Amino acid sequence: MDRPLTILGIESSCDDTAAAILRQPEEGPAEILASVVYGQTDLHAPYGGVVPEIAARAHAEKIDLSIEEALASSGVPLKEVDAIAVTSGPGLIGGVISGVMCAKGLSASLGVPLIGVNHLAGHALTPRLTDQVAFPYLMLLVSGGHCQFLIAHSAEKFTRLGGTIDDAPGEAFDKTARLLGLPQPGGPSVQSEATKGDPKRFRFPRPLLDRPGCDMSFSGLKTALLRQRDALIAEQGGLTLQDRADLCAGFQAAVVDVLAEKTRRALALYLEEAPSEPLLAVAGGVAANTAIRAALETVCAQNNVTFTAPPLALCTDNAAMIAYAGLEKYVAGQIDDMSLAARPRWPLDQTAPALLGSGKKGAKA
Ligand code: KG4
Ligand code: ZN
Repeated sequence: MDRPLTILGIESSCDDTAAAILRQPEEGPAEILASVVYGQTDLHAPYGGVVPEIAARAHAEKIDLSIEEALASSGVPLKEVDAIAVTSGPGLIGGVISGVMCAKGLSASLGVPLIGVNHLAGHALTPRLTDQVAFPYLMLLVSGGHCQFLIAHSAEKFTRLGGTIDDAPGEAFDKTARLLGLPQPGGPSVQSEATKGDPKRFRFPRPLLDRPGCDMSFSGLKTALLRQRDALIAEQGGLTLQDRADLCAGFQAAVVDVLAEKTRRALALYLEEAPSEPLLAVAGGVAANTAIRAALETVCAQNNVTFTAPPLALCTDNAAMIAYAGLEKYVAGQIDDMSLAARPRWPLDQTAPALLGSGKKGAKA
């Protein structure tokens, strides 16, 4: 880099409106000067999932504010921004359009380059922002909206080894919490109940483990839990606190087993490429689960693979990752123009077969 670069990142593809300022100095790693996130959890909570129209309206309301706050807290005046990076897909189209239109306006008025970023590339490149990880590495994205294994060969080339064909794991945690009357988001509440429960009392299915490959399925798990819950209620007239903890423990054990085994298979495929510094990075809200994290760490240790997880604020949706992915594109000379389109679907690996399902957060490619 012959001079420092300052990138404004904008993210609005799902249920978080976010802006960030990233600075790449002449030497050394990029630095996050500000990262602002306005979540919409409360707005969607009464509906049990993200409502696209509500999300789009909230993005339109908060996008300017999040950019102003990011600029103010970074101390960077708008005129010092060298490029605008924006999520241009995949995601809920209303939100993506809000971000892209805002970025186009800023790019035109400031006369600086516009860079459209794939949201999934933002997640997948985060380990390079946080830990300067070398290519190729294996990435597991596990959140309320994503679940896929990707080999990151370069900032532009990703191979998808598999993913969920229906619900994302976070979605399954959230639905489980709802079925058991636990607070949202479901992940932390189910995890905390699970620590008090017996994971062996109820044996829930381990979907797709009997089939080869790295694809996963989590929607049957919550149906099995619903049946077990209803059977207990019919038998006893209600659920005891111990029943609830045991149901959570059984559910979590099933998710852990599926993710661990599929990770084993994904690692085997990745290691065929003989990476010189083999590494698995995990990102997404579900990466906060201690049982899942411990299982993934064990699988990595058994395979002599380094395990890493970015700090949680950079694992979940944010604009610093979009600014960073934009920086990689900028350095490679991949600049967009005013014809940049918002894309609801945009698989990172165009050659992989389409996944059948879509998460509660809409189509995520
Ligand atoms: O990355 P994130 O913020 O993305 C989406 O909005 O998709 O992840 C949120 C998801 C929620 O479904 C939440 O229940 C789940 O991550 N989650 C967890 C835990 N903490 C958050 N799932 C399991 N265990 C946790 N400790
Ligand atoms: Zn995301």
